[in-house]
Amino acid sequence: MFIIGRTLTLPSISQITTLTVISIKRSYLALYLAHAITLEQLINMKKNLICLCLLACSALAFTVKPIKKTAKQFSYIDTVNRTIPDPTGFNATVQGQPVSLYVLKNNNKASVAITNYGARLVSIIVPDKGGNPTDVILGYDNIQSYQKRGEPYFGAIVGRYGNRIAKGKFTLGDKSYQLESVNGQNTLHSGSTGFYSRVFAAKQINDQQLQLTYFAKDGEGGFPGNLNVTVLYTLTNDNALKIEYTATTDQTTVINLTNHAYFNLNGAGSKTITADLLKINADNYLPIDNTSIPTGKLESVAGTPFDFRNFKAVGADIGQTNEQLKLANGYDHNFILNKHTANQPVATVKASGSGITMDVYTDQPGLQFYSGNFLNAFRKDGKGGIGYGSRSALCLETQHYPDSPNQPTFPSTVLEPGKKYHSVTTYKFSNK
Ligand code: GLA
Repeated sequence: MFIIGRTLTLPSISQITTLTVISIKRSYLALYLAHAITLEQLINMKKNLICLCLLACSALAFTVKPIKKTAKQFSYIDTVNRTIPDPTGFNATVQGQPVSLYVLKNNNKASVAITNYGARLVSIIVPDKGGNPTDVILGYDNIQSYQKRGEPYFGAIVGRYGNRIAKGKFTLGDKSYQLESVNGQNTLHSGSTGFYSRVFAAKQINDQQLQLTYFAKDGEGGFPGNLNVTVLYTLTNDNALKIEYTATTDQTTVINLTNHAYFNLNGAGSKTITADLLKINADNYLPIDNTSIPTGKLESVAGTPFDFRNFKAVGADIGQTNEQLKLANGYDHNFILNKHTANQPVATVKASGSGITMDVYTDQPGLQFYSGNFLNAFRKDGKGGIGYGSRSALCLETQHYPDSPNQPTFPSTVLEPGKKYHSVTTYKFSNK
């Protein structure tokens, strides 16, 4: 295994340690090391310093007592984030405006931290089955990390038009608009001036409510109309986070607001969400083209990996040979929500480790389910200095269908002057 061509390669200390740690007996290790030396190499040993080193290691294996059990047994308890980040990391001036961290608390051991930079959820801390505080969303410890390119949407409000608009173009009446294009040939989350990157004005109403407002100027990002947006976060005493959106415009425009939280119900920092059980109340979903724009067809989930009508592990079918999964490297599709009342969850996620369950309620017609396919642990500035690897979180973004301004068969996302945009989404957490 360590012989490459005719050169003997020394096993690294970490390889040896790993062998020791996994409790391979001393004799096996010695045998293994000895086995790695061919007779020919033994003859050349005087000249071969590397072989000498290997022999020394072999001798060491006989003299040093093996470590009986050094591998720390990590469980979700050890790795997850449990506290709100230090607020001082959020005191900053961005685009000439003050930014800070606001905290909501209820009387049932839950708290939510929000920054007005992107009207963004920084932490949602809820008790797990043992009553331990558990932060169930990914994020960073300071504003500077949120400003870096990479994953700029963690916990943010995305708009004015969340998700994709094909080629960044659409027409309203007899006027055509060309948006900034940021994601290949399409506009994603309204481009670099999308709401995730804007500073909202914050007003803490009480311990359980924060109101954030933003004025998006006519022409910002290429969109028509001065838009006044309000996002009201309410943490209720039954551990639900309600997000209420309102907006008005002075010209005909398009609007699609959502929150882009990345959830890991075993706690931010816990490795993957593929074992989480997911249920989505959707008989149909929207297949995409190779630029992630819906083809315009509705497809039944029946008999496909997209069938989450009954609880199923997120990863159960993710590895199946399926053109749609291949295009997105997993799930990154809009599900067409079945008719439901305000009291019926449109989706539910259950994490076995923490015992935390999340129910999603919304009045929106669609749900973008993204299985965190492109997260990577390269950056190590996640909360507590960790990297968030692929599929270490999932997004359930309640919204209108992507590219609606160009797809006449989809529900309309047009907002007219004099009309009020109003929408409510609630994420409710329990641990029973
Ligand atoms: C954004 C989108 C997701 C997904 C990722 C891919 O976060 O909101 O739906 O497409 O980009 O990196």
